[in-house]
Amino acid sequence: MAGFAASTYMRGINWIAVPTTLLSMVDASLGGKTGFDLPEGKNLVGAFYPPKLVLADPSLLLTLSDRELRSGMAEVVKHGIISDPELFAMCNRGMDWVKGNLEEVVKRAMAVKIKVIEEDPYEKGFRAALNLGHTVGHAVELVSKFELRHGEAIAIGMLVEAAYSARVGLATSGVVRAVQDSLSALNLPIAIPKEMPREEIIHAMRMDKKKNAKVIRFALPVEIGKVELVDVADLEMVIGD
Ligand SMILES: NC(=O)c1ccc[n+]([C@@H]2O[C@H](COP(=O)([O-])OP(=O)(O)OC[C@H]3O[C@@H](n4cnc5c(N)ncnc54)[C@H](O)[C@@H]3O)[C@@H](O)[C@H]2O)c1
Repeated sequence: MAGFAASTYMRGINWIAVPTTLLSMVDASLGGKTGFDLPEGKNLVGAFYPPKLVLADPSLLLTLSDRELRSGMAEVVKHGIISDPELFAMCNRGMDWVKGNLEEVVKRAMAVKIKVIEEDPYEKGFRAALNLGHTVGHAVELVSKFELRHGEAIAIGMLVEAAYSARVGLATSGVVRAVQDSLSALNLPIAIPKEMPREEIIHAMRMDKKKNAKVIRFALPVEIGKVELVDVADLEMVIGD
């Protein structure tokens, strides 16, 4: 929100980000996507406006609640799946290991995002890989009326999208299992809550940002360390039963 305010005040003033959650250190503070949600959907008002400096001190995370720390780990798992299998393997060691090794986790996860955004700052191409788990995840987050933390919704989205990737023959069932094991090791949710209406999730997916209603671009895992961008028309197929 502050970044977005900085982008519009006097047509833009400098700002720095001092993230204090794991999620903001490894993801939200990097890449210049600033903005806020509207009741109709996530991130509907915003601008690309990177800070001059990101100051991430992992010792700030010692006061963060367990739930918020786990929520941030969902984005760490995502970065592992996108391009760092070693980071992904670290996530399997569970929360106690993570808490004792926050500096390494934060550094590695930041490095993945920085590499992607430097190559494609305005999401003309591969930056969309960072949306892994987010098309389903944002929809589930919205339909839960934000009862789910962002990372929890993304964890669910990653597994649903990985399962779809396996159904269309892009990923093996081993990849789906690996993602499931890693999220479970971190005690993150892995399934859409039963009571959540499937049609509302699909409607929310179509509303998400500028996505064309007919075809939505997904970042699907192919193996741990590699994702592919795929246009999907049949959203019911993605959600499954
Ligand atoms: N712009 C982007 O590229 C991007 C990327 C990923 C996520 N996001 C967005 O980020 C939002 C989630 O942000 P968040 O996870 O940082 O949550 P948040 O800012 O809502 O903070 C979560 C809670 O933790 C508390 N808190 C923060 N730091 C603390 C600390 N050090 N010790 C104790 N308590 C602390 C806060 O007061 C709050 O209650 C979502 O809306 C998501 O969509 C944006």
